[in-house]
Amino acid sequence: MDGDMSNPATGKSEACGAKPKTAPTEMPPHPEPQPLITTRLGRVYCGDSAALIPSTLKPESVDLIMTSPPFGLVRKKSYGNEDADRYLKWFEQFAIQFARVLKPSGSLVIDIGGAWNRGTPTRSLYQYELLIMLCRDHGFYLAQEFFWWNPAKLPAPAEWVNVRRVRVKDAVDCIWWLSKTPFPKASNRRVLQPYSSSMLNLLENGYTPGLRPSGHDISHRFRRNNGGAIPPNLIALANTESNSSYQRYCKARGLPIHPARFPAAVPAFFIKMLTDPGYRVIDPFAGSCVTGYAAELLRRRWICYELEPRYVEGARIRFQDSNQLPILNRSEPYSIPPPNLSVDDSDAPLIENGGTRRPPA
Ligand SMILES: C[S@@+](CC[C@H](N)C(=O)[O-])C[C@H]1O[C@@H](n2cnc3c(N)ncnc32)[C@H](O)[C@@H]1O
Repeated sequence: MDGDMSNPATGKSEACGAKPKTAPTEMPPHPEPQPLITTRLGRVYCGDSAALIPSTLKPESVDLIMTSPPFGLVRKKSYGNEDADRYLKWFEQFAIQFARVLKPSGSLVIDIGGAWNRGTPTRSLYQYELLIMLCRDHGFYLAQEFFWWNPAKLPAPAEWVNVRRVRVKDAVDCIWWLSKTPFPKASNRRVLQPYSSSMLNLLENGYTPGLRPSGHDISHRFRRNNGGAIPPNLIALANTESNSSYQRYCKARGLPIHPARFPAAVPAFFIKMLTDPGYRVIDPFAGSCVTGYAAELLRRRWICYELEPRYVEGARIRFQDSNQLPILNRSEPYSIPPPNLSVDDSDAPLIENGGTRRPPA
């Protein structure tokens, strides 16, 4: 059982606050599970996290739950998605455990992709329903919603986007940052971005303070260099890994390459903003253990739980590679053009039937 409640960085006890009403507090009688992988700071358990969390973690012993659960995709993928309509029911067992193990100062960050309703060009509301369920029924607060924009995402679903041309490509995941209290520990100073060239110019050469046409009163304080720009709640990050040591390791051993990995910079961003070194991070749907990898590099203690043994086997390389890659391979900004309004309406008439029928070949 893991759950010492002291922060090794400070040595101080951090557990406080009321226990969630719905969570069982007594420990099950069966023996303590054994991790398949252990490192200096973390471990990986293989099995159902709904069963493993109660027997491996004490109440209020976790600072950050950083995870990407199986999405309620309409078209099932190979990593075991639940249908959208059963999703909330299935998720409840985890929600109860998350509320139990999280410290009052802690955060729950969920990266969750969208889903299309079967057979129509309309979207499922399941990720919003999940958010509402977590806040309304399990006492979480929405600290902030983030959107992860993957510039490399291919147009999909092809039927609505490429064939019938009635939707645009879906290129963002929602990331819900939730907390147990309205004031989780956090600092945006940990994730400042380099200033843009226009801001650097402004800092160097100054500007005339006063009222802008937008109504904003730009004061002298805007000229202070704060070490970087405060990032937006849009995380721009391509998911383009194609020849990593992880992939080579899996291929060489005939292990499946996890099809839904997030780039390490996604968990790293939240680990940095929401925890200190030595704090505990867990990922209950760990896949190839990217969260564990990011936490290890950032010197946080961590625990990953993953149902599929072959994904855990593939994840071993993340903790063996002595030449570990930096979490972020790219420093150049991505660019996205503003909406293009120059196409003449008559050159692209509306699809009269709303995409009910396929266009003639
Ligand atoms: C979207 S993937 C996570 C991918 C991961 N973020 C990565 O970058 O590799 C979700 C994972 O949750 C796992 N999973 C599903 N149900 C689970 C459960 N009850 N306990 C533990 N893992 C589970 C699936 O096998 C899958 O690998």
